Amino acid sequence: MTTDQGVPRAELGVIGGSGLYALLDDVVEVRVETPYGVPSDALFVGEVAGRRVAFLPRHGRGHGVPPHRINYRANLWALQSLGVRQVLGPCAVGGLREEYGPGTLLVPDQFVDRTAGRVQTFYDGVALPDGAVPEVVHVSMADPYCPAGRAAALEAARESGWEPVDGGTLVVIEGPRFSTRAESRWFSANGWSVVGMTGHPEAVLARELGLCYTSMALVTDLDAGVETGEGVTHTEVLKVFARNVDRLRSVLFEALERLPVDRDCVCSHALDGLATGLPGVPGD
Ligand code: ADE
Repeated sequence: MTTDQGVPRAELGVIGGSGLYALLDDVVEVRVETPYGVPSDALFVGEVAGRRVAFLPRHGRGHGVPPHRINYRANLWALQSLGVRQVLGPCAVGGLREEYGPGTLLVPDQFVDRTAGRVQTFYDGVALPDGAVPEVVHVSMADPYCPAGRAAALEAARESGWEPVDGGTLVVIEGPRFSTRAESRWFSANGWSVVGMTGHPEAVLARELGLCYTSMALVTDLDAGVETGEGVTHTEVLKVFARNVDRLRSVLFEALERLPVDRDCVCSHALDGLATGLPGVPGD
């Protein structure tokens, strides 16, 4: 299926994190330019169980884009411009509780933003290159993740024998450095579950476009405040992710199959009754 311009369309999207740079075998590579610049990489469009899926490596194929330099707006815009309405966002995280050790899969239901200065909105009053001016829009983020997407991810994990943690808070730090022990202890003391670098503003921007977004957090290490050893290293993160990437890929396939064909969740109604002023976005 293609758009009028011959660009392949997709209904589902996956934004792959550290260590997940490819998802599907038989794909069409699509380069998308957006009013916000270029995404992290081309989009790779293929099929899972008869449904069109676009995959985007969050850090680029060669992991050349660090978390704080990702063009999150371009990434989300590119996906929605192909027709994507539901997004799965797997990511590597550190565990903030001893029981969330490496290999744990946690499907968060909340996040806390500890990033600094990332652009987190499409509705900033700045005209797009084509002259369209976004309206002032305030979306609800009380429940930041799609309930249907979360259910699909949890069922998919259970089906594959990987008992997931249902819910928890993902604290998103600016990076690219890892946390100090004091920061990490503070995160744990607040009752937060896992720590990562990319969950924000991805979920917010998805919601601002009326997209469903589901975070799937793979624990690659115990964060500095929990660990008694040297603290987390990048090498450790990549090693543990690599060890788990095949089963993560199969859970993603299962989850994609389970995503509802018709949406009626909080995300699908995020822009109801609002004028966005953004071309191609509901309410434009
Ligand atoms: N990604 C993987 N492990 C992490 C950690 N401990 N802190 C932040 N981001 C991470």
